[in-house]
Amino acid sequence: MENLKDGFFKYQAQTTNFASGFEVDYAKGSYIYGKDGKAYLDFVAGVSVNTLGHSHPRINQAIIDQVNKYMHVAVYGEYAQEKPVALCKKLVAMTPDGLDQVYLVNSGTEAIEASLKLAKRATGRQEIISFRNAYHGNTHGSLSVSGDERKKAAFRPLLPEVYFIDFNNEEDLQRITTKTAGVIVETIRGASGFRVPVNNYLKKLKTRCEEVGAKLIFDEIQPGFGRTGRLFAFEHYGVTPDILAMGKGMASGLPVGAFMASNEVMNTLKENPHLGHITTFGGNPVIAAAALALLEELEETNLMQDIDRKEALFREHLQHPKIKTIHGRGLMLAPELSSPEYTLKVQAECMKRGLILFFLMYSIENLRITPPINISDEDIIKGCNILKEVLNDLEE
Ligand SMILES: Cc1ncc(COP(=O)(O)O)c(C=O)c1O
Repeated sequence: MENLKDGFFKYQAQTTNFASGFEVDYAKGSYIYGKDGKAYLDFVAGVSVNTLGHSHPRINQAIIDQVNKYMHVAVYGEYAQEKPVALCKKLVAMTPDGLDQVYLVNSGTEAIEASLKLAKRATGRQEIISFRNAYHGNTHGSLSVSGDERKKAAFRPLLPEVYFIDFNNEEDLQRITTKTAGVIVETIRGASGFRVPVNNYLKKLKTRCEEVGAKLIFDEIQPGFGRTGRLFAFEHYGVTPDILAMGKGMASGLPVGAFMASNEVMNTLKENPHLGHITTFGGNPVIAAAALALLEELEETNLMQDIDRKEALFREHLQHPKIKTIHGRGLMLAPELSSPEYTLKVQAECMKRGLILFFLMYSIENLRITPPINISDEDIIKGCNILKEVLNDLEE
């Protein structure tokens, strides 16, 4: 009989020749259990998705309750439904003034697509400024504003009038002009190495956008939903975007995205043309129920307040001569090793020893550590010890 892994490679389309094909049985808390009967400590959380870990009782119950009521009754924005409305209301309450409304979509890349459209509609301009080595998703618009030409060249032509500047480079801010509709930036950069803004960079970026009337779009798809100790990472930097895009960890494991803006900006999607963004499944009540349950959990517990301490615990237990530095903030950490090849070897060996790690897409010399934010201290220390043993045993 064909086993799971053979079926996976034969029938499920692949876009690399090096997927691991790890055979998953079930997952609970910070562990994924393989068909081999072994427990794997999950330091990746589905790439920043399982905010509360796997099979969290509150998330599961919210999903089950909503499934038992109903699943899908209308396309986006037609019927008033309890969970999506409650979710939007809570998101507005938990974010700074100026983010008055939420549009719920299906994924991060759709949130980016719609945010770009919104910036164009709200300003009547066309130009978008993005950042070299940014990653914003894989549909045509998101790919257009992503900054790695190696991943884009084969798909051209992409969106015109997209220009790139360097993150944290203040001189480049002059490239943002009265022609610019929107500036899109990852608050904490993902694929390019978990780099954080320095020297009040985000404030200066916002000031420049205000000077020229461009809309500032923050891509919070990775750091959002408590991962850095605040609901969104931008809150650390004292600046609020005009448009906020989110996704990944928002429903702790179900596919989702959203974007927020002021009433004035969001209302531009209503006219010329009306239905300025359309989605069938956006605002799905089952997913909204899970996302609402996550926000309630974040509100009612001290998970976010505890992130700085957990980050410190990671940093303390990741002291090793082969770790050059640790990029990132909160539970979005990237230990940098000597080379991409070594990082891949380390990742593979950690997996054999029961620790799931990943690397960063454009900067493979960095390991990805984005565990569930409710990971226990014991598991943090256990995983760090596995990693250090592997670093001891494997030559660079
Ligand atoms: C910063 C950032 N933006 C956008 C996306 C795209 O999100 P999705 O894969 O849900 O389309 C990702 C996904 O990795 C991301 O990390």
